[in-house]
Amino acid sequence: MLLTWDRMRAPGCFLTLITFPVMLRQASGAGKWCYDSQDVSCGPAHWKDVNHNCGGENQSPINLDRTRMHRNQNLGNIIFQGYDRAPPGMWRLMNNGHSVLVRLEGETVIGNMNISGAGLPNTFQALQFHFHWGSPMSDGSEHTVDGKQYPMELHIVHLNAKYRSVAEATKDPNGLAVLGFLFTIAEADNPNYNTILAGLKNVSLKGNSVDLASTFRLDNLLPSMEKLSRYYRYQGSLTTPDCEEAVIWTVFEDTISISHAQLNEFVDTVHFTAISETPVKMKNNFRPPQPLKNRKVYASKYTMINHSASVHVSQFTFLFLLLLGQMQLHL
Ligand SMILES: *[C@@H]1O[C@H](CO)[C@@H](O)[C@H](O)[C@H]1NC(C)=O
Ligand SMILES: *[C@@H]1O[C@H](CO)[C@@H](O)[C@H](O)[C@H]1NC(C)=O
Ligand SMILES: *[C@@H]1O[C@H](CO)[C@@H](O)[C@H](O)[C@H]1NC(C)=O
Ligand SMILES: [Zn+2]
Repeated sequence: MLLTWDRMRAPGCFLTLITFPVMLRQASGAGKWCYDSQDVSCGPAHWKDVNHNCGGENQSPINLDRTRMHRNQNLGNIIFQGYDRAPPGMWRLMNNGHSVLVRLEGETVIGNMNISGAGLPNTFQALQFHFHWGSPMSDGSEHTVDGKQYPMELHIVHLNAKYRSVAEATKDPNGLAVLGFLFTIAEADNPNYNTILAGLKNVSLKGNSVDLASTFRLDNLLPSMEKLSRYYRYQGSLTTPDCEEAVIWTVFEDTISISHAQLNEFVDTVHFTAISETPVKMKNNFRPPQPLKNRKVYASKYTMINHSASVHVSQFTFLFLLLLGQMQLHL
């Protein structure tokens, strides 16, 4: 009894009583996360406080270090089904406050576009695609290749056909398959992006959505089909909270080109914020690379990357510089 009373009077106990309401408030605000461009206090470094998954062992994105990849001869061509025709129905463009995404599935049906083969354990059905981008001044891809970040990244999210919802699939390391495409800037516009770009003004604010003018062949958005046999593969996570480690990642070696003006339309038009809030432009909505830890990254059968080839190049460069140095000595 006495011991209990003493404890009750201990300062630590009062501290507990005082901090309790604060903790309650944090718990009810759980799920609030953002990018550093909105507020560093809820940016990617703090996501593990929102959900402990985000501090896990198999997080995405990662830096794809081509000198440490393992070539896997079983990673052959991906079988794309339905990517080569505009499906019936409507695709909905939405601003979810973190990205702009296109919902590919109808009210009840999915399965208009599938991927399989290429080491995937099942058929995976396309659900939605979305983008991560930087700013007019800086790059905004999530994956980096040999430490290099790219201006933008497209993610096409697919659901393992044995599941009926993302909620079910996120409990399985093979629940989702995401295709990641990096962008490079070209002089010319990429007209295949016009339908999406035209819809951006209708999803300028968080919570906005609009039906796109038409569906289209999904492969129009991508590098040409024969280039899609060159990719990197690893086991990872969703790149936003709750960071579930349920994703088979495929990131392609070949990039999609887009003009500077087209990329700027994303930054100029879309906002992180809803109508009632002070407007904040949506930019730099990417998570930086996460530690690889114990994972391996595989290069597909047809990737052109070769570690020893790149060593040769640097040896040649060395010789060349040596030669150049000697020539200068002679001059
Ligand atoms: C996609 O896969 C589902 C389930 O396996 C199948 O019912 C559907 O016909 C496939 N779609 C295409 C375009 O092949
Ligand atoms: C999209 O925005 C444009 C320009 O603001 C407007 O004219 C058009 O009606 C909007 N479309 C839809 C479907 O809301
Ligand atoms: C690069 O080539 C060497 C020799 O042909 C081979 O042993 C190695 O596995 C290759 N590496 C990759 C990543 O393809
Ligand atoms: Zn993404």
